[in-house]
Amino acid sequence: MHFLLLNLTVLCWLVKICNSLDNGLALTPPMGWLTWQRFRCNIDCKIDPENCISEHLIKRQSDCLVSEGYHDVGYEYVTIDDCWSDTERDKNGRLQPNYDRFPNGIKNLSDYVHSKGLKFGIYADFGSKTCAGYPGSEYHMKLDAQTFADWGVDLLKFDGCNSDIKDAPKGYPAMAKYLNMTGRPILYSCEWPFYNWKNGVKSNFTAIRNTCNMWRNHWDIQDSWQSVKGVIQYFVKSDKQFRSFAGPGGWNDPDMLVIGNYGLSYDEERAQMAMWAILASPLIMSLDACNVRPLSKSILQNKNVIAVNQDKLGIQGSLKLVQESVYKLQIWTKPLLPKGSYAIVVLNLHQGGGQLHVNFTLNDLDIYDSKGFNVSETFEGRHIGFYKSNDVIKCRVNPSGVFMMTARPAITNDSNLRFISKYKHTYVGKKGEK
Ligand code: GLA
Repeated sequence: MHFLLLNLTVLCWLVKICNSLDNGLALTPPMGWLTWQRFRCNIDCKIDPENCISEHLIKRQSDCLVSEGYHDVGYEYVTIDDCWSDTERDKNGRLQPNYDRFPNGIKNLSDYVHSKGLKFGIYADFGSKTCAGYPGSEYHMKLDAQTFADWGVDLLKFDGCNSDIKDAPKGYPAMAKYLNMTGRPILYSCEWPFYNWKNGVKSNFTAIRNTCNMWRNHWDIQDSWQSVKGVIQYFVKSDKQFRSFAGPGGWNDPDMLVIGNYGLSYDEERAQMAMWAILASPLIMSLDACNVRPLSKSILQNKNVIAVNQDKLGIQGSLKLVQESVYKLQIWTKPLLPKGSYAIVVLNLHQGGGQLHVNFTLNDLDIYDSKGFNVSETFEGRHIGFYKSNDVIKCRVNPSGVFMMTARPAITNDSNLRFISKYKHTYVGKKGEK
């Protein structure tokens, strides 16, 4: 009997090892920087030497991620997306960079990124070619995993263009296995569920979570509020399919933060940051880190909002209340540590008019504690007041904007209390106050 039990335990243990991605990475949502949204497949270094996909770009951005304070607040992975490679593999079948743009090779570049205290990521594709037409990893996965490990890669973004979706359930786990076999911890970022969705295939999120550290669910994000809203609405509609799979080690990925580029207003930038925080999404910027407007930079580097995203409980927030038709006013919550605490985001999707006056109670959001809560505004860390679960919280939210709060059971020390508010943008008061 004991022997049987022992064998069963060993078997379960083996199955667990074989079936789950156990690389110890991404215990909180990964934070970093990626070329794609801002720099795309710009390979013309003659015309655009500062912005083309090149060694120069990655080095310059790594420098600025450190000197401009992004690294200090947690942004860590510097990843080159598509268009870094040559159009052909080398004579040994290995991927090689375009040497005009990466004259010192990728190992040298990753050494440079590491010398800044950052981590280095690269892109490949599970199919025959990448989305931009460069060599894919099909039939080369083992060799490519080893090449990446030899180059000191810390993150692999694995795309799915030019592949047969029927191969994905074997292909993505195979790459995970080959990455693990190299012995180098490499964070594995997959686009598996996105290609499933695009091809009308239902995703097996158990398998995806067991394979990848983060996984893209939806279309590529663009530099516009329309696009950011589209991603949020996709999460609203489909969240039941995948929300519960997010947690330490693996995260749903709504794609990059587009803050600091051309397309979003100040309020829209705050809204993307707040929503990505409450969704426990990877915070991957794609911008010119050397040239960011001060307001955008302060949003990206807001320590209180980042703390919500990086909360070790690792629960993806959910939509709790819809106060207006067609989802124009949404209230999202995310459980936080210490136990019983919550982040709350009130999102106003109206695109005109003035501030929306919003009233709600913590009860409405299923947040209870007989001792009541200390509530603070998150961006400024301003203490708003003490609220019992059935006290009415009133706030005003700008169009295409958010009001973000943190509610902690009154008994805990609210570290946010130490911040002094300068935030005059919106108003929160108890019922009866003006
Ligand atoms: C796909 C991905 C993008 C980016 C491009 C590169 O579209 O979804 O994130 O990697 O390919 O070609």
